[in-house]
Amino acid sequence: MRNLNLLFFLLLALHLSSVLSWKKDEFRNCNQTPFCKRARARKPGSCSLIARDVTISDGDLVAKLLPKNPANEEDRDEIKPLILSLSVYQDGILRLKIDEDPSLGPPKKRFEVPDVIVPEFSSKKLWLHRLSTETINGDAVPSSVVYLSNGYEAVLRHDPFEVYVREKGSGHRVISLNSHGLFDFEQLKSKGEGEDWEERFRGHTDRRPYGPQSISFDVSFYSADFVYGIPEHATSLSLKPTRGPGVEDSEPYRLFNLDVFEYIHDSPFGLYGSIPFMISHGKSLGTTGFFWLNAAEMQIDVMGAGWDAESGISLPSEKSRIDTFWMSEAGIVDAFFFVGPGPKDVVRQYTSVTGLPPMPQLFATAYHQCRWNYRDEEDVDHVDSKFDEHDIPYDVLWLDIEHTDGKRYFTWDKMLFPHPEEMQRKLAAKGRHMVTIVDPHIKRDESYHVHKEATQKGYYVKDANGNDFDGWCWPGSSSYPDILNPEIRSWWADRFSFENYVGTTPSLYIWNDMNEPSVFNGPELTMPRDSLHYGGVENRELHNAYGYYFHMATADGLVKRGEGKDRPFVLSRAFFAGSQRYGAVWTGDNSAEWDHLRVSVPMILTLGLTGMSFSGADVGGFFGNPEPELLVRWYQLGAFYPFFRGHAHQDTKRREPWLFGERNTELIRDAIHIRYMLLPYFYTLFREASTSGVPVVRPLWMEFPYEEATFSNDEAFMVGNSILVQGIYTEKAKHASVYLPGRQSWYDLRTGTSYKGGMTHKLRISEDSVPAFQRSGTIIPRKDRFRRSSTQMVNDPYTLVIALNSSRAAEGELYVDDGKSFDFEHGTYIHRRFVFSDGKLTSVNMAPTSPGKSRFSLEAVVERIILLGHPHGHKSALIEPTNHKVDVELGPLGLQWGGSSAVVTIRKPGVQIADDWTIKIL
Ligand code: NOJ
Repeated sequence: MRNLNLLFFLLLALHLSSVLSWKKDEFRNCNQTPFCKRARARKPGSCSLIARDVTISDGDLVAKLLPKNPANEEDRDEIKPLILSLSVYQDGILRLKIDEDPSLGPPKKRFEVPDVIVPEFSSKKLWLHRLSTETINGDAVPSSVVYLSNGYEAVLRHDPFEVYVREKGSGHRVISLNSHGLFDFEQLKSKGEGEDWEERFRGHTDRRPYGPQSISFDVSFYSADFVYGIPEHATSLSLKPTRGPGVEDSEPYRLFNLDVFEYIHDSPFGLYGSIPFMISHGKSLGTTGFFWLNAAEMQIDVMGAGWDAESGISLPSEKSRIDTFWMSEAGIVDAFFFVGPGPKDVVRQYTSVTGLPPMPQLFATAYHQCRWNYRDEEDVDHVDSKFDEHDIPYDVLWLDIEHTDGKRYFTWDKMLFPHPEEMQRKLAAKGRHMVTIVDPHIKRDESYHVHKEATQKGYYVKDANGNDFDGWCWPGSSSYPDILNPEIRSWWADRFSFENYVGTTPSLYIWNDMNEPSVFNGPELTMPRDSLHYGGVENRELHNAYGYYFHMATADGLVKRGEGKDRPFVLSRAFFAGSQRYGAVWTGDNSAEWDHLRVSVPMILTLGLTGMSFSGADVGGFFGNPEPELLVRWYQLGAFYPFFRGHAHQDTKRREPWLFGERNTELIRDAIHIRYMLLPYFYTLFREASTSGVPVVRPLWMEFPYEEATFSNDEAFMVGNSILVQGIYTEKAKHASVYLPGRQSWYDLRTGTSYKGGMTHKLRISEDSVPAFQRSGTIIPRKDRFRRSSTQMVNDPYTLVIALNSSRAAEGELYVDDGKSFDFEHGTYIHRRFVFSDGKLTSVNMAPTSPGKSRFSLEAVVERIILLGHPHGHKSALIEPTNHKVDVELGPLGLQWGGSSAVVTIRKPGVQIADDWTIKIL
């Protein structure tokens, strides 16, 4: 009976949530979150801690933090000092840890997130040997100063306690912690008689067995014009103040992984993933970063100028300083300061801690077609053949939850999908792949082998009473694997073997959804905070990393399945710092609205800044039915997302690209074609991301860090360093204002028309495309022939588009490997650098050439070279080393684009893409 009631409640809730918009009341705001409310009530200067017993130990600076003047003498014995350590790593990285003193017998060890910091990071530690002290600004007690890198030092101010990084020489502060004295650390306690620590929210009780255990502190960024980062929120790229004079909607940015139905497009509310990493940028000092490795709920305030007017605290760089306030419910302080000084330096520093995104398979960088749900095999076949009929390439067909036998993952509905292997093989014959969904909620059904095994082995997360946690999700009553446990991760990974996941073939990959985790009848639609994971870790401590571990275990499973020879592809909805190592993410359940199209750009840019380079938004919007114009504009913009997938809710009308009349089909085909043309460029950018952390799509200021006009621009973005894309976010738009940065000119990607840099252009726009430009001084590799899928384009010839700058020079790169295996890790790839100067194009090898390394062989040739900004009139070009001449003529910029002016073209130069050669224009 209880179950029936629950089922009714669930169905009602689901129904309501599909017809109503975001239900704010389902979720806690700061005032309803006691740790947030307490922290926000603190006044600047209320921290009374000072650093004592400062020494060097094991290469770190260590100290004790204790109150300067305990309230009364008896309290002295009660004082439990905190232990602080400061460590320095190569490349200007400072790490600060603060925790309880284990020798004082806390009731339990506080949770320190394992498995996020990459193992190599520890070898970058610089061992401190010597401590210097310095009296700064007349302080009564000297501060400790440690070397950080060539240009920077770290300072531990003892009294009052403060940590900061300063420039050597000038002494200018770069970033600091506790400068406003807001630091607070609630130590664990054992419950005394009659103490009530329970917290209640909408009928749920959190027992909080260790009492309040939150941590909060202020962080200041100096000479900063803006701060960015801390996804996931549907909001602007530069983070607006959440507190201070004139701030009305006073909620902090929340980091708490939640399944939010129909989220709104402009809110600090926390969505599916959390990365507690913030970046500041300013024109004078450059870029700095701050990362707090902590997986508990976090709330972050960005303080508006003047918020501390009454505090009496006056810090240097008053004008261009941005203060922030960080609050977390549990865990420890494990914080990293990155000194930059450039935007790409900060991203490199952050990914040296949390890891680089790996090289995806080529197919994963192409277009994906998804829908909740493709009904059955016939539907799959139909959709697949329609793409061919309409000459639209696509690489992956996705199956959502309805393909399973009653939402039992790793199974197939036998009526609808009786021949899954044959279905996949048919797709594979056209070079196409399939993705199926595997969620973490396991149906509690004795006859379901996964549940049976997990129960027998004791592999589920426990509730506060120690029983298997039982929550509601798609299959009804469900339990959730305790994925923090490495043994359980390994078991989960094995579920993906071809023997265990019956009906799968090597062309099938995985989608992990609902892994926040989503629990329909849980507090805020998730797992209760007092539920228990491996090692007695409470969900409150681990929550934001739960989905991360799923992503990790699933990706490991696919690597195992392919015997270490096949790169995995796993899309995850939840994420945490470090998730970039396991695959792609998307921005969840957006809506078919222009505002959601608009906000997809800052959301993806923010993800890229925080390591998650491989991300996208559901093209078309998940909820609702887009007008054809919106759908077309979404394809035109989405073609430039790193992860490009169309997806829709099951209640929406079908919206495959050919369903909106011939003209719209043509426009969508064109948008998808652009992506396929640019795949060589995209793949090269994925390589760059996998070696440097620099994201595939970037905010303009990452490429133009000195141009203030770019700092808060989140309507446009850069794809790599060479293409600028401006979205169109309104209906029937006839004009767009586009700011083109830099001193050099830009070339319209389709027409070749050139535009001056360093100014805003008011452009007439058509329905054909969104404005996109190639930056002069760059060379873009393209493939201009369209096939059914990216894998069928492998041997196709290349086009090189050279956009000359005012010195008639340009540079670009091309990276190619087999698109599938890990052989590239042993040097089996092609990496070319193209340089154009003095009228000559040179192709230079960038790949290792050491003997014994097998070279990646590719027969593809260069079929066309296009020169933008080159004077007409030249007749021929000389190719070396073959010493032959070819004609220089005028030709189209894109083979299928009408309306473009004729551009200087070298057709059929007859050179192999993999070889060294030069082409001199005569
Ligand atoms: C929620 C996901 O965000 C959505 O993309 C998916 O279609 C549904 N779950 C059903 O699996």
